[in-house]
Amino acid sequence: MEFILHTVILLLVFLVRLILIHGADIYITTPETRDYTFLSNHGIRATDRILTFQLEACNNAYVGLMSGSSDAQPLYEIDFGAYGNTVSFIRAGKSSTLPRLDETNGNALDCNIYKEFRITWDDNTINVSHGLENSWSPFLTWTSPTTLWPIQHIGISTAYGAKGKWIFHIQNFPTTSELTPCAASCTKTYTCHCQTTSGTTTSSNTLAQLKIERKTLSSFKRRHQSASDPRKTSIYIGCVGIMVLVLSVAFIVILDLLPRA
Ligand SMILES: *[C@@H]1O[C@H](CO)[C@@H](O)[C@H](O)[C@H]1NC(C)=O
Repeated sequence: MEFILHTVILLLVFLVRLILIHGADIYITTPETRDYTFLSNHGIRATDRILTFQLEACNNAYVGLMSGSSDAQPLYEIDFGAYGNTVSFIRAGKSSTLPRLDETNGNALDCNIYKEFRITWDDNTINVSHGLENSWSPFLTWTSPTTLWPIQHIGISTAYGAKGKWIFHIQNFPTTSELTPCAASCTKTYTCHCQTTSGTTTSSNTLAQLKIERKTLSSFKRRHQSASDPRKTSIYIGCVGIMVLVLSVAFIVILDLLPRA
């Protein structure tokens, strides 16, 4: 009896760890309303100071690095593919009359292809780089002469006739709160920590967003298209999997309810 219980628990722990370490992709679509969708509502934290995403939009996509919980408070805005997808820039606010702190000309976005970007920041600098075919070359960068407003929230939005399809990769790792005072070196510290503590069973798993290298665009796309499997057997396999999980949990609960011998 005890042996079976232990086996079941180990199996469950293994499954949970598998799910946690595997991470998840978060798909978000933004309407063409210019309203910000807050990433904190999707488990993506601003405290990581790194945001990696794929974006498919025709023009005018915005990432807002916000000091408050709404875009009424001071924010830095990164505008991808403004003015008919001809220019991208960073500015310190939403108004188009504000100066561009850095800008890059060219078609940053594509209506039919996911473009990959990474935004990192520390106390003074905001960096934007682009990936995939550009292999993480610098895209925009701005260093403030003063300390940046503290970034508490990240918002995404699209406007001027463009909707946006965004994909964020969330990776879960066993971690502890000792890393939360997030300094400029946070990302590096974080990676090291994860490698040295792999195999431990720290229970307080928190979400952390990590960069992910997508090899090529086509492989990336293929990976995100689920092929439907109409065969009956695949349904049966899925059902059996669910039943095994449910029965395992039920088994443990029942054991708890049974009087001890
Ligand atoms: C921004 O990019 C510069 C130049 O590549 C680099 O030295 C700096 O560490 C980067 N800062 C952040 C916060 O990514």
